[in-house]
Amino acid sequence: KMLRILIKKQNKIYWKLFQKKKQKKLNKIAKDTNSFLKRFIKKQKKSELIIPMKYGLFSGGKKIRSKILIDIGTLFKLDYKSLIIIGSAVECIHAYSLIHDDLPCMDNDLVRRGKASTHVKFGESTAVLAGNSLLTMAFEILSNKNLNITEKIKINLINKISESSGHLGIAGGQYLDLSFEHKRISKKKIIDMEVKKTGKLFSFCCIAPLILKKRNNKEIKKFENIGADIGLLFQVADDLIDYRGSSLVAGKKTGKDKKKGKATLISLLGYKNTIKYGNKLIIKINNKLKKYGPKTKNLSETLDYILNRKKWKK
Ligand code: IPE
Ligand code: IPE
Ligand code: MG
Ligand code: MG
Ligand code: MG
Repeated sequence: KMLRILIKKQNKIYWKLFQKKKQKKLNKIAKDTNSFLKRFIKKQKKSELIIPMKYGLFSGGKKIRSKILIDIGTLFKLDYKSLIIIGSAVECIHAYSLIHDDLPCMDNDLVRRGKASTHVKFGESTAVLAGNSLLTMAFEILSNKNLNITEKIKINLINKISESSGHLGIAGGQYLDLSFEHKRISKKKIIDMEVKKTGKLFSFCCIAPLILKKRNNKEIKKFENIGADIGLLFQVADDLIDYRGSSLVAGKKTGKDKKKGKATLISLLGYKNTIKYGNKLIIKINNKLKKYGPKTKNLSETLDYILNRKKWKK
């Protein structure tokens, strides 16, 4: 029995060390992304919207999408700097989506990343416009000449990131999320909604390295699907955090999905089955990555981090 306790303790220590290592890597990516974005904004002319834009962009955030982009990018031996620039564009779109997601006409949330939501701090109209400006800034970043890739590839990237943000991506998914409130929705439809609102931007992160490397459409499609699964996993974890997590750790109010009657896998399948679903997703994604050999270890670790990062477990 003593031995078992010791092993358990040992495992706990390893788990903590592993988490710390993970956090360090994430912190570096977050730092490099933020410093690129700060420099990019500094080079532009000033405007009144810059302050609320920066507030939404630099108020924290895990930069997990950039991490996935870099994990896949290193699989294909891409240069870190270009990946940070593309990741910065993704984070602009992500920041925009959060500013709008918190608006009274959407989720009506007052706290984001441990601070007042952008519209609470600056007013609704300013938040809408700062959000719009962050969305378009992503296209400015990708079309800018400091990103050292051919114009053809740039257009390809802009085409894909636009698709992931519009009516078949974030915006379309957010529409479904809101229209599903207080309704009984099938598993298939919930998954479709979560893949659109969250998965598509992850899909972009997974295919951007392949577009840079001019890989064929079949392989791109494969990574698009892997990205959709990673995004779905991420949204499932976010839903679990809302269900069980502490708002202090999450940096936003928890327990809101249930109150708002959000259609989630938890509301349909229950808490335990949703955890099982998340773990099955990880196995599914890892199986698809097997072919790419031991270099996928970083990505697998990131998947583990996504599902287990917060103490939503009892
Ligand atoms: C929260 O995203 C919104 C979802 C898509 C679930 P993140 O949890 O990545 O937000 P930050 O950037 O780390 O705050
Ligand atoms: C947001 O999902 C997804 C987006 C595309 C913004 P949620 O509404 O669950 O995100 P949180 O919980 O407010 O961060
Ligand atoms: Mg929402
Ligand atoms: Mg929300
Ligand atoms: Mg949520």
